Amino acid sequence: MRVLVTGAGGQLGRSLVRLASARGHEVAPFTRTALDVTDGTAVSAVLAEQRPHWTLHTAAATKVDLCESEVAWAEAVNATAPGIVAKACRAAGSGMLHYSTDFVFDGGKGEPYVETDPIAPLSVYGRTKAEGERAVQEAGLERWLLVRTQWVYGPGGPCFPTAILDKARAGEPLRVVEDQRGSPTMTDDLANATLDLIDAAQSGVAAWGIYHAANRGVMSWFDFAKLIVTTAGVDAEIAAISSDELALPARRPAYSALDTTKLEVAIARPLPSVVDGLIRFLEAGGLTGYNASARRGM
Ligand SMILES: NC(=O)c1ccc[n+]([C@@H]2O[C@H](COP(=O)([O-])OP(=O)(O)OC[C@H]3O[C@@H](n4cnc5c(N)ncnc54)[C@H](OP(=O)(O)O)[C@@H]3O)[C@@H](O)[C@H]2O)c1
Repeated sequence: MRVLVTGAGGQLGRSLVRLASARGHEVAPFTRTALDVTDGTAVSAVLAEQRPHWTLHTAAATKVDLCESEVAWAEAVNATAPGIVAKACRAAGSGMLHYSTDFVFDGGKGEPYVETDPIAPLSVYGRTKAEGERAVQEAGLERWLLVRTQWVYGPGGPCFPTAILDKARAGEPLRVVEDQRGSPTMTDDLANATLDLIDAAQSGVAAWGIYHAANRGVMSWFDFAKLIVTTAGVDAEIAAISSDELALPARRPAYSALDTTKLEVAIARPLPSVVDGLIRFLEAGGLTGYNASARRGM
């Protein structure tokens, strides 16, 4: 299968390129410099030339706080570009897998969100991603999948676990919020789940539509920071703080765990746990010297 990846230099894009290639797919990776997804002419030309079976659209404006001040940028990349990509996919006969976010929800439900729950974004990022979702759904694609995920980190670039470990190893004070809860999700697990989902949908086992994907286990950022340092075997003092103390520009949902049952039924397997994803991330980056097999039973 020929697969085109937008945002190929990003966290998820890197995992998708590597893992789709490992499965024997022919992969056409497009970084932002190779293809600006806000440029309709360029997107149409690339899709018409590449003729992929599937387009995996990971490109997004993901700096949540910057989106609050750079609203036009957020709207162009997150709200308008998914429609541009979707229409080019339709014209080129490509299926489209679009990624969205738990930030389309307000966090007030108090239990994991299912795909049919009403959306109510709190931030510019969440609103623009919600608009992007709608654009994909309204583009008239025959083959489309929309995967909402959350708290993404992965190998090959800066991310939350490496930031925590860098600070811990430098002996810098660590203050991490404990009043936001969700599921930290490793890009390799997300990439594998969505490649499996494409196979399931292509073979008629799964329906086209919206799915939630995240590693199993719900925790706060503070809990995750503690898990990172303990698992990596690093000594660190971590202070739990509230979101108000950080005073970031964008409001975030307090509880945005995603119910992944629909996806797990579609691909006929459970998603890996947060602990398992973190261990593989740390091992891949040579970030730990501890006994991983002993901790897997946690
Ligand atoms: N990160 C998370 O915690 C998280 C949570 C929920 C959902 N998601 C969703 O998951 C998907 C992948 O996220 P990620 O974590 O891999 O994000 P990421 O690491 O920020 O990657 C996004 C990529 O998109 C590129 N990009 C930005 N503007 C572009 C444009 N106009 N044209 C082409 N490429 C452009 C970025 O390039 P530059 O870096 O050069 O700008 C970057 O390489 C996104 O749809 C995101 O909304 C992410």
